[in-house]
Amino acid sequence: MKHFITTADWRQDELQQIIDLANEFKQGATSDALKNKSVALLFFNPSLRTRTSFELGSWQMGGHAIVLEPGKSAWPLEFEFGVKMDGIAEEHVAEAAQVLSRYCDLICIRAFPKFEDWQEDRQDNMIKAFAKYSTVPVINMETITHPCQELAHMQAIQEKIGKPQNKKYLLTWTYHPKPLNTAVANSSLLIASKFGMDVTLLCPSNDYLLDKRYMDIAKKNIEAYGGSFNVSHDIEESYAGAEVVYAKSWGALPYFGNWDAEKPFRDQQKHFIVNEEKMALTNNALFSHCLPLRRNIKATDAVMDADYCMAIDEAENRLHVQKALMSQLIKQ
Ligand code: CP
Repeated sequence: MKHFITTADWRQDELQQIIDLANEFKQGATSDALKNKSVALLFFNPSLRTRTSFELGSWQMGGHAIVLEPGKSAWPLEFEFGVKMDGIAEEHVAEAAQVLSRYCDLICIRAFPKFEDWQEDRQDNMIKAFAKYSTVPVINMETITHPCQELAHMQAIQEKIGKPQNKKYLLTWTYHPKPLNTAVANSSLLIASKFGMDVTLLCPSNDYLLDKRYMDIAKKNIEAYGGSFNVSHDIEESYAGAEVVYAKSWGALPYFGNWDAEKPFRDQQKHFIVNEEKMALTNNALFSHCLPLRRNIKATDAVMDADYCMAIDEAENRLHVQKALMSQLIKQ
């Protein structure tokens, strides 16, 4: 049984098949692939796009989605093994995953890092525990990667510029007042490299490099699928000639859980904002962001409102790619 936890487990042609089906849904194709089926959506963190698109996508294909918020509308869960459960958790994921598997045909999980210890968070233990005990496919709705966002992003890129191979792709860090998850940045590297793009990771210093695991996967993808991968701290050089600019803010991993120490340096990096001056350096680049986005912090109003901004198209694509994904996984 195949899960959708990270695109690193999926070949380019398998991902393309999902995007191709998503294009059919976008053009109006219908499906009853989820007729008489149910989908559990477990949200440990807030959402606008993910919840709406999964709920609607399930309904549009004849299925029923059940939203659970562990710790709020559902019991708080323990996901460590061999522990004495004398804390706030009332239920272990071992039972929760097995029970939900008896009721539902897919289990989807959003569980952000705890932002205390990256060595622990990088294990992605919550979703791995669900995958271990679930007897139905598990879908990642964002943990330490955001693979559904990757599919929507790649669908949008292909819609706008055709074949992505060797197109210049810039992932730029941006300022944000709080340290954020690296998930979408990790995912940006995974999907752009998986489709053979010439990828530049722009960030203020080496402290903002992404986890070596994802940098290494990007390099391996480049070997397998072509393209290139480089890191830069030079804003003008990085924007020059770019064809896609993807913005995201994330907390520096060496300061994980010690955010007060990171803040003074991060607060000096507000000039990483995406603005018209920087976009003018590109080769008529598309701009995107996974959303939500703080306007005039990460990107200016002018960039968000420009014709080259495809963030809304990408957000729409979440619905189509997730319908394609669910309809494929449920067939197993
Ligand atoms: N991009 C994204 O996952 O949006 P939400 O956090 O609103 O679900």
